[in-house]
Amino acid sequence: MSRLEQNLRAVRARIDAAARAAGRAPSSVALLAVSKTWPADDVRALTALGQVDFGENRAQELLDKAAALGDLALRWHFVGQLQRNKAAAVARLGAAVHSVDRRSLADVLDRAARDGDRALPVFVQVDLSGQTGRGGAAPEDVPALADAIAERGGLDLRGLMAVAPLGEPARPAFERLAAVAARVRADHPGAVELSAGMSGDLEEAIAVGATVVRVGTALFGDRPLPSGQDQRSPATRVTPVTGAPEAPGDMTN
Ligand SMILES: Cc1ncc(COP(=O)(O)O)c(C=O)c1O
Repeated sequence: MSRLEQNLRAVRARIDAAARAAGRAPSSVALLAVSKTWPADDVRALTALGQVDFGENRAQELLDKAAALGDLALRWHFVGQLQRNKAAAVARLGAAVHSVDRRSLADVLDRAARDGDRALPVFVQVDLSGQTGRGGAAPEDVPALADAIAERGGLDLRGLMAVAPLGEPARPAFERLAAVAARVRADHPGAVELSAGMSGDLEEAIAVGATVVRVGTALFGDRPLPSGQDQRSPATRVTPVTGAPEAPGDMTN
């Protein structure tokens, strides 16, 4: 069995166990494979193992991989901070955008999506850290942003997305997210998705109702350190495609 297959099975087993522990059906939690920095061949290999949903956090990398893998029936998701100049291209690709955190971005996506034949799936990203600059709308601003998105014919409001803040336990942060999600769902019953949980905290996210977990490291291996030092353990090592510097949880574009 390949390393990727072992990792995929292990992640799926973690998801299934966490769902059962929360009294939920394992099928109620989708796995989004975050393939940033990993080569298109790894994405291709995972699709051969049945994985369908893939996420990227840099627009150009998403566009390049989508072009290289155009023969595959996979679903792309964008999970990073999205600049307006790249937003139209991402929308035209039909990738679900998990990181809508302002009306101006919703407007650009809406305009681009209206040219297509179906509404673009979008998530409102919620900032759980209380610090500006890492992406996400402040929790108190989320309901109004959700209302604005729901009014736009080119967009399909799927739900909320968040990253657990650094330096505090994930569970209480995800509970705050679930409370905002319940508020949004009261006005928008179709906004049923909660995109939360990564390699290190997917159990905590599933416990509060995550329907999509975004997993990179536990599937593909550790990404390279900025310094070029190799932090990867032999157990998870797979060949990365770039040495692009980034911090853990970095969502820049
Ligand atoms: C928004 C987002 N979600 C999920 C992930 C995947 O995180 P991990 O590699 O810890 O599973 C990343 C990675 O950078 C990310 O930026």
